[in-house]
Amino acid sequence: MKPQSVIILALAVIAVNATLGTDVSTAVSTSEWSCLKSNSRVFTIIRGYQSVGRVDPNVVQNIKNARAGGQADVDVYIFPCVNCGNPAGQAEALVSAIKGQNYGMIWIDVEVYQWSSSLTSNQAFITTMANTLRNLGQHVGIYTSYYNWQSIVGLSWSGVSWAPLWYAHYDNNPSFSDFQAFGGWKSPAMKQYNGSSTICGVGVDLDWY
Ligand SMILES: *[C@@H]1O[C@H](CO)[C@@H](O)[C@H](O)[C@H]1NC(C)=O
Repeated sequence: MKPQSVIILALAVIAVNATLGTDVSTAVSTSEWSCLKSNSRVFTIIRGYQSVGRVDPNVVQNIKNARAGGQADVDVYIFPCVNCGNPAGQAEALVSAIKGQNYGMIWIDVEVYQWSSSLTSNQAFITTMANTLRNLGQHVGIYTSYYNWQSIVGLSWSGVSWAPLWYAHYDNNPSFSDFQAFGGWKSPAMKQYNGSSTICGVGVDLDWY
């Protein structure tokens, strides 16, 4: 093959593999999910636990609606209540609330919001939450960004690098080309590339893998 053909083929493979999705924190109807799918948004991550310290009252219906609306992959994220303490209890409450629902992974949201000023205390919180989810048989992932990780646990802390990374960088570019390594992760699993979009009338963040 000529070098040029190889490059064209490589680009075609990249284009075919690009998968677009959303993450949401509000109630979304079946027809809205179906509209998102028509707009090439085929997977989603739904908020399952709120920073005020309770299971998101919309999570179960959102999972059902997302599946009914044809979303191919449906994950859940937990926005922890750090002030509430008891990270194990929060993880258990979410898993118990969505037991039997058709979802994939649970992502722990590690972003600047009411964390302790002690990095070690934040590290312990995240470790306990991740281990609890894993011990409950869940597929755990971490949602964060380079700067959030730096400020909350320190860039070099790699205590949960066994879990896949979903990183945020709002460059509006569905690509991993901007990825800077941190936290022991060599490569990311997913990127949130836009944090303030509206599609089909639904407020969404835009994700890609
Ligand atoms: C995110 O997407 C919206 C439209 O969906 C756009 O207006 C906005 O500029 C994007 N944000 C960034 C940081 O590019």
